[in-house]
Amino acid sequence: MNIIAKNQSIFDIAADIKVIAIKKDEDVSTPALAQANSLLQGALEKRMTATKFKGNAGKTLIFSSTKTNEHIIIAGVGKGTAENFRSLAGSILALQAKLGAIRIAIDPRTEHAIKPLTEGLLLANYNYTTFKKPKETLELQEVALITQEESAQSTITTTQQINEGITKTRDLVNAPANIVKPVTLADEAQDIAARSNGLIRAHIYDRAQCERMGMGSYLSVAAGSDEPPYFIHLVYTPTDNPKKKIALVGKGITFDSGGLSLKPSSSMETMKCDMAGAATVIGTFATLASLKPSVEVHGIIAATENMPNGKATRPGDIVTAANGKTIEILNTDAEGRLTLADAIDFAAKQNVDEIIDLATLTGASMVGLGEEITTLMSNEPTFAQALLKAGADAGEKLWEMPLEQNYMKLLDSQIADLRNIATVRYGGAITAGLFLSAFVPEGQTWAHMDIAGPAFAGRGYTSYLGKGATGFGVRTLVEYLTT
Ligand code: BES
Ligand code: MN
Ligand code: ZN
Repeated sequence: MNIIAKNQSIFDIAADIKVIAIKKDEDVSTPALAQANSLLQGALEKRMTATKFKGNAGKTLIFSSTKTNEHIIIAGVGKGTAENFRSLAGSILALQAKLGAIRIAIDPRTEHAIKPLTEGLLLANYNYTTFKKPKETLELQEVALITQEESAQSTITTTQQINEGITKTRDLVNAPANIVKPVTLADEAQDIAARSNGLIRAHIYDRAQCERMGMGSYLSVAAGSDEPPYFIHLVYTPTDNPKKKIALVGKGITFDSGGLSLKPSSSMETMKCDMAGAATVIGTFATLASLKPSVEVHGIIAATENMPNGKATRPGDIVTAANGKTIEILNTDAEGRLTLADAIDFAAKQNVDEIIDLATLTGASMVGLGEEITTLMSNEPTFAQALLKAGADAGEKLWEMPLEQNYMKLLDSQIADLRNIATVRYGGAITAGLFLSAFVPEGQTWAHMDIAGPAFAGRGYTSYLGKGATGFGVRTLVEYLTT
């Protein structure tokens, strides 16, 4: 799919589908509509009246010529927000398949619509086809976006570069756990470094090296798996002076069986997605060599499976994390926080200004905010605000929950520094965040994103994000790193 910015009238472009966006309460007297109306010999005005078409978001009028098989679509976009345009792009792609269009032209008639339209087109155009051939449909060749903005084509290019990272994330998450193993994540990291023109380096540590670094918490999760664990450290160094140093830490459980605290099989069905945080970090790194932000970025992943073999960690076992804290493991299914504990400690040791971890950490996050919203927690309110803004600007949904210090007592163990599950079920996303905070050194700025819901869509979330991996987080992180 070729996306091209064109500075000309949509009526002068050859296309099978021509889409004209209409904001709420624009009537047939607006020039673009008047022109379409005369082309359609008054049919538009009639249909607008008959259907009480008011330009509300998601409402469309379709005029099809049986002679030429050309379609003119009048598409309501409400207030014309970025989300309205992503959503419109998704709906147009669904129609493309149905109508068998090869060329599409879209006139958003709104400033700053090129980026969200391109995002929506690219996100909706994604398919995971490794193991199943897609349905034979006419291939969409060209989408012309009508605009007078001079920077439009470069906006499209940048959006495509970001989408390449998102696609990498989605492919890694959608791939099953017999394909994507800890070693696969390590290989991906090395591959990204190799393609970065020297801007990114990858360091991979094996089990023995992690033992020497004292990562007893992380390795307790790896203990029950026959697949070797790998600890991954990516470093992007800008060519200019870095404005700051940021660490992105991703949960990298390539399959979460629960370990000896085995999950019921229905809960296990989608647990290949438990490395989505890691995949988001890798996908974000895949954009850095082309976007070249002026920040030093560390990508940190403690990759392992969580499996229940004879060497597996038992409920009641006590382990020592790299920061010296002891943990009584009462539930081996609360494994993400155990791997993140050592990964966050490693991140802090890189002398970074800020740490962001991303993790499919708790079902409780989904109970709290539903499937489509990420739970954000931070020890620094201004940092939380900055990430909420980045999310809002990027079109991803995050909501802050508090790191309530009075709940810390729920993680007290009789015989170790901490227990890995709280003594009560309530507030499970918060107590998981509090557990992580015990591995963030005093004075270290840190934020935690629980992406358990948004990372992997059990059902279609929007017109442009269907079932399966969404790539959640790449857009927010890229927005944060580049602005
Ligand atoms: N990977 C899961 C969390 C999860 C659940 C992610 C659903 C995506 C969808 C995590 O390791 C886990 O098992 N969490 C437990 C924690 C509990 C044992 C305290 C949970 O949420 O039930
Ligand atoms: Mn688990
Ligand atoms: Zn997990």
